[in-house]
Amino acid sequence: MGEKLKDTFGRTFPYIRLSITDVCNFKCGYCLPNGYFKPNNHPGFLNINEIENLVNALSDLGVSKIRVTGGEPTVRKDFFDVMKLIKSKDGIKKLVVTTNGYKLDQLAGALIDTGVDGINISIDTLDREKFKEITGHDRLPEILKGIKILQDKGFKNIKVNAVLLKDINDTKDEFDSWADFINQNKINFRYIELMQTGDNLKYFKKYHQSAKVFKEYLELNGWSNIDRVRDDGPALNYINQKSNGTFGVIAPYSKDFCKTCNRLRITAKGELRLCLFGNTGTDLRKYLQNASQKEELLNLILTQLRFKKESHYLELGNTGITPHLASIGG
Ligand code: 5AD
Ligand code: SF4
Repeated sequence: MGEKLKDTFGRTFPYIRLSITDVCNFKCGYCLPNGYFKPNNHPGFLNINEIENLVNALSDLGVSKIRVTGGEPTVRKDFFDVMKLIKSKDGIKKLVVTTNGYKLDQLAGALIDTGVDGINISIDTLDREKFKEITGHDRLPEILKGIKILQDKGFKNIKVNAVLLKDINDTKDEFDSWADFINQNKINFRYIELMQTGDNLKYFKKYHQSAKVFKEYLELNGWSNIDRVRDDGPALNYINQKSNGTFGVIAPYSKDFCKTCNRLRITAKGELRLCLFGNTGTDLRKYLQNASQKEELLNLILTQLRFKKESHYLELGNTGITPHLASIGG
């Protein structure tokens, strides 16, 4: 089924990242250093009916996995309703979410009750002071407490992502602290290499660090690369017999990164983005108003997919129309 969504380079797209809001309550230096501001002429984010029409169409196209992202998706008042709605669709076998972990200690139970299959939490460091500096919020303790609650309730599929930042979290001490953490917690932890976006050039120049430093650490400390499985996307994963958890690296600047791309994105305003760093978005919203518009919607998505390019050309400094990742959903 996923075969219906196939591009001209033979890549298929069983996986959609769906942003449900641009709003975020954190102020990560690389993303929204001054926090989120709502523009005056804002059309509003997709409402739950629009989301339902969209998910029905995606499911028809063979999409079997949806990741709900933001901004910070949990700030939406109807967040849990949106999650339950998506989960209720037959074709959607996997529903996962990415969150900054804000109030995770309070939300953990209700989150599990939505039937969510996986939770990705962004934590750039386990050092409380540094965490506060990076995100503008002293919320590390509640996030860690939230993870503990998820685990105590038997929830297994937790991933933690950190953006690798030069002179902030790229030291052996930092890497060791994550090694301890995943050993105790049986979690998949991944470093993402910092990406340049339309808004963050200065920050990028100062803090970009090659994922090589972490890969070297892994090799020196008994971690070995395991083969990708289909659906995994562009992460490289590592195991170590001595550890319960696993490490991963997402290095968007590495050669061939885009070859394994298995995702399309839909923004909170209903634009289809073929690539994080593409130059165009296609407005799907006009066809999301009524369930009877599904055929038009399907045709539009299939037509657009033919334009997906082979690579993001980030290495050429091309950031496309993405000002920051909160606008498109990491
Ligand atoms: N480069 C790399 N990762 C980023 N994220 C946000 N902005 C960037 C960027 N410029 C990360 C978040 C989160 C995920 C959704 O994307 O920290 O882990
Ligand atoms: Fe919010 Fe995520 Fe952007 Fe940080 S990276 S400001 S948590 S959207």
